[in-house]
Amino acid sequence: MNECSQNNVFASKYLDNPIFGIVSDVAVSLGVRAFVIGGYVRDCFLGKKSKDIDIVVEGSGTAFAREVGRRVHSRVSVFENYGTAMLRYHHTEIEFVGARRESYNRDSRNPIVEDGTLEDDQLRRDFTINAMAFSLQKDDYGTLVDPFGGIKDLDKGIIRTPADPDKTFDDDPLRMLRAVRFATKLSTWEKYFNITPECFASIRRNASRLQILSKERIVEELNKILVTDHPSMGFDLMDKAGMLQYILPDLLKLKGVQMLEGRAHKENFTHTLQVVDNLAEMEVEAISQGLLHDYEPSENGFTESLRTEPNVWLRWAALLHDIGKPASKKFDPVTGWSFHGHEVIGGRMVPKIFTGLKMPLNEKMKYVQKLVSLHLRPQALVTEEVTDSAVRRLLFEAGNDIEDLMLLCKADITSKNEHKVEVLKSNFDLVMGKIRQVEEKDAIRNWKNPITGDYIMELYGLPPCRLLGELKDAIKEAIMDSECDNTFEAADTLLRRLAAERGLVPAEKR
Ligand code: CTP
Repeated sequence: MNECSQNNVFASKYLDNPIFGIVSDVAVSLGVRAFVIGGYVRDCFLGKKSKDIDIVVEGSGTAFAREVGRRVHSRVSVFENYGTAMLRYHHTEIEFVGARRESYNRDSRNPIVEDGTLEDDQLRRDFTINAMAFSLQKDDYGTLVDPFGGIKDLDKGIIRTPADPDKTFDDDPLRMLRAVRFATKLSTWEKYFNITPECFASIRRNASRLQILSKERIVEELNKILVTDHPSMGFDLMDKAGMLQYILPDLLKLKGVQMLEGRAHKENFTHTLQVVDNLAEMEVEAISQGLLHDYEPSENGFTESLRTEPNVWLRWAALLHDIGKPASKKFDPVTGWSFHGHEVIGGRMVPKIFTGLKMPLNEKMKYVQKLVSLHLRPQALVTEEVTDSAVRRLLFEAGNDIEDLMLLCKADITSKNEHKVEVLKSNFDLVMGKIRQVEEKDAIRNWKNPITGDYIMELYGLPPCRLLGELKDAIKEAIMDSECDNTFEAADTLLRRLAAERGLVPAEKR
């Protein structure tokens, strides 16, 4: 990688998008210098194509953007307060900013911005790996401008701030979470990305400043950490840096092992992180094999598509699957530690946690809640005899989320006892097989009661009342327990019998 530094011939191969030539022409006509900077440059050296391009201009970024917009016939969105502007060029989002010297008033999030040079601008950026720029001037087009050694840091896997970390993190505390995100996302088995001890110490000192951030910005980073290949690294770093108490305090309550009468329980924080990692690995594998699907609500029910990207909500479900354990923990001198009902408590905690993080309380939240509430059910099935009826009930409750639930359940096997793991996994495969059989036979996962409330009301001339629900539930139970076929005719016969037992007579016979 080092050979690319300061080598304009090599670097210019990354500037194949025609927009760079247009920006270069505009720079000449406006008499200012322009550079591509930030994530785009970093990702070039990582061999990735960035979706977005950031252009920094030594002059007015908004005037520059307007001129580029005029030339490419694209609408420019200007954010006067921040001195930034954005336009779309084909499928790329291009953001323009004037080179700035910037500081923040400690008590407000509004930046105080002064004009500056490229180097001033690079110094105020978050990390050296994000502060590299390619020149777009005609005379040195494509030259890497890297005054803080970003390329070396990228090569060695180092995350550090160009300026004093206390100043950088004070300017925008979100950068502490970004440091964790980049360390987590860029690390591979071959090369770890480490936050330097100096930066890490600064994060520890400044962690409480996370409180001034909007929850939306925090959640955006958390989501990006969750969809990495090894999310545990991020949560471990957040924990060690003292950030978690300001982000997800409930997760911290999972920490620790209590010992009573010589008996200890599982360390639930480490277990949770292991489950999130297991799930990430299994999900990536299952996606590559085309085994997972996404379902979106549509006019006639839902549309199904093959999953191509990790499902961040499934990762949330893994992160929160045992969140109810601390509140359910009990010790019995004979049986030892138990966490009975933790999945129910956990399910109830999900909306509260989402509310605390200002996350939407929509169908995604309900999905997470459902997976947390049901995560023990497949395991419970494998320890009992796997009856059709038990599988049918699980399928009915999980609906389209059965694939994800099974994945979560498998990821939850973290025992160190290899024999136990083998037994659990093979029992698990047994349940999976049974699920496929029942699904083929009964198509139960999107089951709808063949008898509707309207039908019962019309048949018996009833107004809306509790009895309708009772009758429908009784029919559902009978179908689930294989006591009634899953057809309208069978369900109607049962309805008429149940109704007669309750003294109801069809309206037409009165
Ligand atoms: N930046 C910064 N401080 C922040 C956010 C961004 O200094 N809090 C700078 C960095 O130079 C960053 C650039 O602005 O590279 C663009 O930011 P953004 O688009 O949020 O991130 P990227 O680095 O492009 O990475 P990604 O797209 O993966 O989020």
